[in-house]
Amino acid sequence: MTMERESINGVPEVTAVSTLNVIDLSGSDTHRSVSSLKQACLDCGFFYVINHGISDELMKEVFDQSRKAFALPLSEKMKLLKNEKHRGYTPLFDERLDPVNQLNVAGDYKEGYYIGIEVPEDDPRAQEPYYGPNVWPDEDVLPGWRQCMEKYHQLALDVAKAVSRLIALALDLEIEYFNKQEILGEPIAILRLLHYEGRVSDPSKGIYGAGAHSDFGFITLLATDDVSGLQICKDKDAVPQKWEYVEPVKGAFVVNLGDMLERWSNCIFRSTLHRVIIGGQERYSIAYFVLPNHNCLVECLPTCRSEENPPK
Ligand code: OGA
Ligand code: NI
Repeated sequence: MTMERESINGVPEVTAVSTLNVIDLSGSDTHRSVSSLKQACLDCGFFYVINHGISDELMKEVFDQSRKAFALPLSEKMKLLKNEKHRGYTPLFDERLDPVNQLNVAGDYKEGYYIGIEVPEDDPRAQEPYYGPNVWPDEDVLPGWRQCMEKYHQLALDVAKAVSRLIALALDLEIEYFNKQEILGEPIAILRLLHYEGRVSDPSKGIYGAGAHSDFGFITLLATDDVSGLQICKDKDAVPQKWEYVEPVKGAFVVNLGDMLERWSNCIFRSTLHRVIIGGQERYSIAYFVLPNHNCLVECLPTCRSEENPPK
């Protein structure tokens, strides 16, 4: 499908809207879900999931709490600044996801907040990178905030595990392959609240909500508000690159595969370049990055290799 969209800074753009497969997680027709997911993973590694079991009420609460946190004065937010375990607040320009195309700007026009699995300081697991205590706002500053985020963190992991069952089946592995203790038993799961301020993106000047990148992990679940902005580029080598919008679908997650799964599957499944273009409206999204245990050995999956197709 192609349609004319509003121009960005006077430059008319004809941008396609991607029609991604919609995967039903309810379990009512697993065969159909697996074949639809498989097709999406071979094609671009992006799809929607619906009937994932997280209620609209909880989603609304998480977004409300996220808005409240970003609405705090900068001085309050800076007290919650990201620590050495990558948990906490990341201000504007903290990240520059596409340095080659963002040479003349300070970075991505977004602010964020990382929340990992809560691991107390005195827990031996806190020695691992990315594991440790989270940074939490005071209860009297943001009442109920921590509880809301911890609840969502847990339920999102269940959704990721449900998706990983379908991925396993799509790769002809046994259904719990990725959910085994050695793989997703103690995952690195990172919730990231994101806020894109209204600053209009201008690719010709390197101004983006988020520069082009692919996610590096296993899978990412993305929840967004109803403001569009996410774009994908299925063929990164095409000249010029062709970008397609992935529109928000109410109640659905956008799921995308990370580079690790691309590699794990011997490049049979795809991780795809994506970016965020802001058209003048503020936008909030919530990413949930899932990676396996720290000591998980990632090597070519047994079903992704053959004599003709040896491990890359
Ligand atoms: C990311 C990402 C997209 C969005 O955080 O990796 O691609 O819509 N986010 O915020
Ligand atoms: Ni991403």
